[in-house]
Amino acid sequence: MNHKTTIIAATLAAIGLAGPAGADPIPDKATLERGQAHYLLFCANCHGVDADGRGPLEGLLKVTPSNLTVLRHLGPPSVTERVLMAVDGGHQVAADAHKMPVFSENLEVRTVREIAIYLDSIQQ
Ligand code: HEC
Repeated sequence: MNHKTTIIAATLAAIGLAGPAGADPIPDKATLERGQAHYLLFCANCHGVDADGRGPLEGLLKVTPSNLTVLRHLGPPSVTERVLMAVDGGHQVAADAHKMPVFSENLEVRTVREIAIYLDSIQQ
């Protein structure tokens, strides 16, 4: 386990998303609605309102935003871990403004958690 993975594992544990596979509680409606609202505010410009990767900024980016409804098909890590890694800059290459911005310093852990729960709920 490298340093980055350790940090992510610790974060997952801290926000209560770690644990045995399949043990996640079914998210309540209010959490999903907050997650969707945060998603629309912070992520939809690039990833699209339907999270299919077709947001209004798509054409301006050097790298095409990922379709976030098919993350589960990519296999491990889990949808939640992928979201955390992405907002944490796991996909970031240097300070390239045309790629996905690093959010982890600007978003509260709870906000990221709710976005992750929402995205997990809309996997196809
Ligand atoms: C400025 C545009 C932009 C915004 C805003 C943005 N993203 Fe991204 N995102 C990208 C791009 C581009 C990629 C593809 C990066 C790559 O493959 O290197 C990406 C990749 C991802 C991935 C990686 C999927 C994988 O393959 O593991 C996840 C998850 C993700 N974004 C989630 C989010 C979430 C959650 C938010 C909101 C908090 C968000 N993104 C906001 C542009 C954006």
